[in-house]
Amino acid sequence: MLSRYYEFYLPLKINAGQDALETLGWEMQQLGAGKPIIVTDQGIVKAGLLDIFLSTQKASGLDLSVIYDRVPSDSSIDVVNEVVNIYQKSGCDSLIAIGGGSVIDTAKGANILISHGGQDLRRLMGVDRLTATQMCPLIVIPTTSGTGSEATLVAVISDSERGVKLPFVSYKLVPRLAILDPRMTQSLPSGLTAATGMDALTHSIEAYTCLQKNPISDAFAWSAIELIRDYLIRAVEKGSDRQARLAMANASLMAGIAFSNSMVGAVHAIGHSLGAVAHVHHGTAMAILLPYVMEMNIERLGELYARLLLPLAGEQVYLSTPSGQRAKKAIDVVHELNHKLHELSGMPITLSQAGLREEQIPEVVQKALNDGAMSTNPIDLTGKQIEQILRKAM
Ligand SMILES: [Fe+2]
Repeated sequence: MLSRYYEFYLPLKINAGQDALETLGWEMQQLGAGKPIIVTDQGIVKAGLLDIFLSTQKASGLDLSVIYDRVPSDSSIDVVNEVVNIYQKSGCDSLIAIGGGSVIDTAKGANILISHGGQDLRRLMGVDRLTATQMCPLIVIPTTSGTGSEATLVAVISDSERGVKLPFVSYKLVPRLAILDPRMTQSLPSGLTAATGMDALTHSIEAYTCLQKNPISDAFAWSAIELIRDYLIRAVEKGSDRQARLAMANASLMAGIAFSNSMVGAVHAIGHSLGAVAHVHHGTAMAILLPYVMEMNIERLGELYARLLLPLAGEQVYLSTPSGQRAKKAIDVVHELNHKLHELSGMPITLSQAGLREEQIPEVVQKALNDGAMSTNPIDLTGKQIEQILRKAM
C-alpha cells in the first residue's frame, strides 16, 4: 500500500543532546536574530524550567528580557493577540516557544500574525492559506515528549468567543529550529510521561498505516517506535534518566515528522472527539484507544501490523511469533504496554477511568465521524464500529 503521489518537506534544523540548549546563541546569530519573545506557561515557570533555560544562556549574548509566561492549557486567539502586541511593542525579532502543545501552537499562531500583519487570525484559518514569503524565525524547545508539534505543520487555536477550535495547516508553520535537551523534560511527572509517550507511539503507528503513508515517513515512524519500545518505560520509571528522556524527545520529534508528512487516522479522530466532549487528555485517549482501533483495522492492516511487531517488540519476539499471529501479537504488545504504564504511573487504561460517561458516547461517535483524521483511516469506520470501540474501551 503506497500513496500514488506524496510530498515530504522538512525545513527544520534539529539540535539534540545533553547540552543542546547552549547552542541557541550561535543558532540565533545564524538566523540574524537577537531579541526573541519567549512564549511559555506557568507550569514551566513553577517547575523551574524557565530558570534552567535562562541559566544556560548567560554567555549567549541574547536579549532574553521579553517573556510571555501565561499561555493557558488551551491556546486561544486572545492569547495569540497578546503575545503579538508584546512582541511588536518590545521590538522583538524572533519567537522561542518553551513548553508543550499549547505553548507551541500559541507561538505558531503568533508567527502567523507577525508574518502576515493584521489582528484577525480567523481569516487565515484552514489549509495552505498562509501567503507570507518570509516567516519570523521560530525556535521550539519542547518540555513534553509526545505532541511532536516542534516538527509539524499544524497549529490549533481556540476561538473562545465562538466555542470552536481553528486549525491552521501550512508548511510555513514548521519551526526553524527544535532544541531537544533532556534537562527540559526530566521533571515531567510519570503519568504525563506515559500518556504523551503513547501519543508519540500513536503518531508513529497511524503514520505507518494511514492512506498517505510514504517511504520517508515510514522510516521516521519505524525508528520512533524502536526508541519508544526501548525507552518509554525507563523514562516513566526514572524521570531523571537523561538518556531515556533524550531518546523519548527524539522519538516524539520523529513521530511528529512522520505524521506531519503523511497523516493520522481513527485513533486521533475519536481522540479529538473525546477531548471535545469529555475533556479526556489527548495522550491518555490515544493510549486507551490505540489497541482497540488496531483490532478494528486488523482485517485491512494485518500485514502492516505484522511488520510493526519488529520495532514494537524486537527481533526475538518477532522471530518466535508465527507469521500468521504477528499482527495480533503487535496489538497484544500495545495492550501490555498500557497495563505496564498504568501500573507504574497510574495512567488510565479505560475510558471510564479517564472520565467518559456512558451517556456521552453517542455525541463522541457523531463528532468522531466528522473529524478530518477519519478520512485517512484505511477503513471507513461506521458509527456502529466507533461505538463498539468506545464500549470495549470503557
Ligand atoms: Fe496526537
